Amino acid sequence: MRRLTGLFLDTSDLGEIRRYQELGIIRGVTTNPTILLKEGIRDGWEGMEERCRQIAQQVDPLPVSVEVTTNEPEGMLDQARRFAAWAANINVKITIHGPEGGTENLKLVHELEKEHNIRVNVTAMMSAQQCLLAAMAGATYVSLFGGRVNNMGYDSREEIRRLRELLDAFDLPAKIIVGSTREVLNIIEWFQAGADIVTATPKLLEGMLVHPYSKETVKQFLQDGQRLVPVA
Ligand code: E4P
Repeated sequence: MRRLTGLFLDTSDLGEIRRYQELGIIRGVTTNPTILLKEGIRDGWEGMEERCRQIAQQVDPLPVSVEVTTNEPEGMLDQARRFAAWAANINVKITIHGPEGGTENLKLVHELEKEHNIRVNVTAMMSAQQCLLAAMAGATYVSLFGGRVNNMGYDSREEIRRLRELLDAFDLPAKIIVGSTREVLNIIEWFQAGADIVTATPKLLEGMLVHPYSKETVKQFLQDGQRLVPVA
């Protein structure tokens, strides 16, 4: 039977990470340059290194994905080595290709995994076929952006199902991460479709937990509890 890894948190917010870590429900963290920027990281390398090290330390030994900020091959290699040296639980996010396409990124993924012993999360993928190639190249994680797939009018669950079937058939060990969550329902649906990991925003996790009817029910229990055994 297939064993799923579980939920990752798609954020660089230390408070949110702590909040969900304390519930015992997260199994890793993913970041990207957009997330870091949106969550207020400044001061260039210094700011980025400080935050990524803090996250890695806080969740250790859970994995943390940190994405390269360049698409220039030498620069990506340099950054990958740098990130991996920040903490043992950091893995490096490399996009499947550059802004104009190309095969260089996948070559680097292969080299990082096989020659440099660095774990890679291949990111920004929109199809099962891209993920399959990344898995064949040796990536530890393959990240499918489910919400963006849906936004383009395709059914992300179909891509996840095809990918699951192919990775299993080829006996490839890559873990499927599905990210780009847009709705609470994405989380369960993507796990059911075959994801090993869903990386969700803190807001969606809260939406998964809190139900208006549960609130109403709890209110009623508390009111009746007061009548039953009044507490001063
Ligand atoms: C996944 O690892 C990415 O960080 C993320 O889920 C991207 O989502 P977006 O489409 O909201 O940018």
